[in-house]
Amino acid sequence: MSRMTRTRSVVAVAALGALGLQGCMRGCSSSDPPVLINFSMFNQPKLKAQAASAFFYDGMAMRPPVPGTIARGHLHEDRAFVTGMDGGGEPLARSPAAVDDALLARGADRYGVYCQPCHDERGEGKGVLAERAKVPTANLLDPRIRELPDGVIFDTITNGKGLMAGYRYPIGAADRWAIIAYVRGMQKKSAEMEAAK
Ligand code: HEC
Repeated sequence: MSRMTRTRSVVAVAALGALGLQGCMRGCSSSDPPVLINFSMFNQPKLKAQAASAFFYDGMAMRPPVPGTIARGHLHEDRAFVTGMDGGGEPLARSPAAVDDALLARGADRYGVYCQPCHDERGEGKGVLAERAKVPTANLLDPRIRELPDGVIFDTITNGKGLMAGYRYPIGAADRWAIIAYVRGMQKKSAEMEAAK
């Protein structure tokens, strides 16, 4: 082997070695972790939620929220709107939501999803529970329920009543008022039909 050839092969081996070390950093797929020559931003020191940390006095990585912090969407300044009760804890006689076509349409939609299975399309309480399990389901057109303050129906939807479960979580406050507006419309129609008989 001449000196020239030897030098060439040393260079070639070194070059191949360097390539091999570097591996395939970008553009080809492999399940192996990349071999990094320059770590740049691949490693970023950080604290994970729920992890321990010796840095903070309480040994936790996670910081408690600043006092007074409120989760997004949970600032309920209008108590009456979200509870259906007035300042004295009495149920509101009338819904605080302005009734318009959009509210009624939303109410009809939500009624169909959340109330109709049991209270049926007409509100008479002849839904699946009554039909299949003989569970007495309130007839929403009943004069007693027609006379209930809006705040009481709001409370029934929120917390449930008797055999009926509460729908606080799936139905937000604004949607509860929308459903009430829609149910009031059904009751009004049925009362008018009764009167016309
Ligand atoms: C899974 C079945 C079911 C669903 C869904 C349901 N209800 Fe009821 N609801 C009942 C039953 C059963 C009663 C009777 C409860 C009792 O008297 O023990 C009732 C009672 C009521 C009453 C009468 C409460 C009273 O003062 O006596 C109202 C008002 C009412 N429901 C409204 C609604 C509205 C509005 C929805 C939709 C958001 C709804 N319900 C969804 C089963 C259901």
